[in-house]
Amino acid sequence: MLKGRNLINTDDFSVEEIDEIMALAQDINKSPENFSNSCRGKILGTLFFEPSTRTRLSFESAIHRLGGDCIGFSESQSSSTSKGESLADTIKTVSNYVDVIAMRHPKEGSSNWGSHYSSVPLINSGDGGHQHPTQTLTDMLTIKETKGKFSGLTIGFCGDLKFGRTVHSLTKAMSNYDDNHFVFISPEELQIPEYLKIELDNKKCSYEEAKKLEKVIGQLDILYMTRVQKERFFNEADYIRLKDRYILDNRKLKDAKSDLVILHPLPRVNEIAVEVDDDPRAMYFEQARYGVIARMALILKLLGVE
Ligand code: NCD
Repeated sequence: MLKGRNLINTDDFSVEEIDEIMALAQDINKSPENFSNSCRGKILGTLFFEPSTRTRLSFESAIHRLGGDCIGFSESQSSSTSKGESLADTIKTVSNYVDVIAMRHPKEGSSNWGSHYSSVPLINSGDGGHQHPTQTLTDMLTIKETKGKFSGLTIGFCGDLKFGRTVHSLTKAMSNYDDNHFVFISPEELQIPEYLKIELDNKKCSYEEAKKLEKVIGQLDILYMTRVQKERFFNEADYIRLKDRYILDNRKLKDAKSDLVILHPLPRVNEIAVEVDDDPRAMYFEQARYGVIARMALILKLLGVE
């Protein structure tokens, strides 16, 4: 039963519950018109203490496409946080105004903390470098629609695996399915956090770490490219040194499988050359479209309206 629940971490929901959301999302994708009035009279609150384009706008698009409304703010400067209001008070107040909250905050753990003060379901829409579970639903829906399955896949993650919260959430989610192999491609300084490796070991999932994309690209079914997370670096020099370490271009793709699926949570900076956009394997803009549908399905489930 997903009605009334929060979504803070990817593993708050069981495999069965994720599958339930995916099934609903696939129905929405087939016949969106059947859902255009499902949330009439319902209001989504978007509390974004950190900049966002895709996540906030796709939440807003999702509730509008369900016939509901949306209120909120897109930066802490335009909320009472700038007057010194605590996060707890903001959430206690806003949960009187809305039926469900989508919250993004630069601090790890903030959504979990905030959810204790909310009287309505709270959706973590990115908490610092920690997790981003609705991006994971987006990524999974794209995988479902392109590969038709969540198991038996070799999944490469490339770029900033240390600070990239979307990587952390998707790794956790995909490690719950059988026979997936993970290939983590990053410079030494931006490797996947130790706690995730321990989790993979505990679940007996197979994984390897690599430094060169060219060396491993040929074995991948999915390649998840990521941007180096500038805002989480402590010094500019390190960012500049690492930011262009991986650039996916047509030359590198020559060695890739013909049915590779290239994903990216976006925004892209330099890590995928624009020439790749015309390759049929490039799915990242389609992925952004699935983001609206995945969020529509999630909102419907949390509100218990179908
Ligand atoms: C991601 C994020 O905010 O973590 N973007 C998104 O939500 N689509 C990835 C990123 O910012 O690099």
